[in-house]
Amino acid sequence: MIELDKKIYIAGHTGMVGSAILRKFKWLGYNNFVTRSRSELDLVNQNDTDNFFKIEKPEIVIVAAAKVGGILANNTYRAEFIYDNLMIEANIINAAYKNGAEKLIFLGSSCIYPKLAPQPLKEEYLLTNTLEHTNEPYAIAKIAGIKLCESYFHQYGSNFYSVMPTNLYGPNDNFDLAASHVLPALIRKFHEAKNKTVEGKNRVEIWGSGKPMREFLFVDDLADAIFFLMNKINAKDMYESGITHLNIGCGEDISISDLADKIKKIVGYEEEVVYDHTKPDGAPKKLLDVTRIHQLGWKHTTNLDDGIKKTYEWFLEQERKK
Ligand SMILES: NC(=O)c1ccc[n+]([C@@H]2O[C@H](COP(=O)([O-])OP(=O)(O)OC[C@H]3O[C@@H](n4cnc5c(N)ncnc54)[C@H](OP(=O)(O)O)[C@@H]3O)[C@@H](O)[C@H]2O)c1
Repeated sequence: MIELDKKIYIAGHTGMVGSAILRKFKWLGYNNFVTRSRSELDLVNQNDTDNFFKIEKPEIVIVAAAKVGGILANNTYRAEFIYDNLMIEANIINAAYKNGAEKLIFLGSSCIYPKLAPQPLKEEYLLTNTLEHTNEPYAIAKIAGIKLCESYFHQYGSNFYSVMPTNLYGPNDNFDLAASHVLPALIRKFHEAKNKTVEGKNRVEIWGSGKPMREFLFVDDLADAIFFLMNKINAKDMYESGITHLNIGCGEDISISDLADKIKKIVGYEEEVVYDHTKPDGAPKKLLDVTRIHQLGWKHTTNLDDGIKKTYEWFLEQERKK
């Protein structure tokens, strides 16, 4: 097992994913973290990122910092999504190499796969066809991150590799309707409609047809998978087995309308739900093939109902603090 006193830098530790990884690693007994909030270190800035690595020299680096958002944000702020993400990952990966990091794990997402790739999505389908238009800039940046890790391994022998989580949810998720993903957006909408906190809202509108199929993984399970892989896999194993990254998911999907029904029940909302067919659906189905990570010996442990309940409890706690 990776020693408990290794110096670990979790980029993006205030975000949903980074905070879950930090929580998990602390719980496991790791005690030598280096963290910087965005206001302390803007990872888009190459000089500042270089200086930070020169001074701190982290031994393990986990790249969970990124500009992240839902369909609307991705489609509207296309330049920011490609520029910020390319800069963040290039700056971190290059600085980690120059300062001798022992291991780096880069987090991408399932949108890197072609829009109409066969389902479930196998790791090998990367770069086999065209991407979904709405989040293409984000996906191109994430693919560049995978290729940076792979190229630094091939040229310099760096122990850098990538993982591709499916849609995640959990504590610290973004519940702001202008930028959130579908699951937290539904929690907020049902919660507000139930409590009528928004003037005049007594029915819930859901974007799209409700038909797309999506997979969801509780973020604490992702943190568990990262810890598992960090100990089990080196870059050499990954690239020698002919892949550039590993999928992390639960291997099951659900339609958006069934997801909405689940959340509706958990939140306790009993009134009308309507589907806004003028809003985009995105890809019809997105399910990761998780055969490889299962074969390595990792499986998720939180089912969707329990994960949504825990997330809603966290959301309620934040509302109470306001
Ligand atoms: N959420 C998902 O469903 C999902 C699914 C698959 C993969 N992932 C991947 O997981 C990673 C993290 O996602 P997340 O959901 O945790 O996002 P998040 O909650 O928005 O967190 C992103 C983190 O990155 C930081 N950050 C953004 N821009 C930065 C900058 N210029 N300099 C320094 N820090 C910066 C943010 O800091 P501030 O809080 O100060 O902005 C925050 O700590 C991403 O790579 C994403 O692709 C997420």
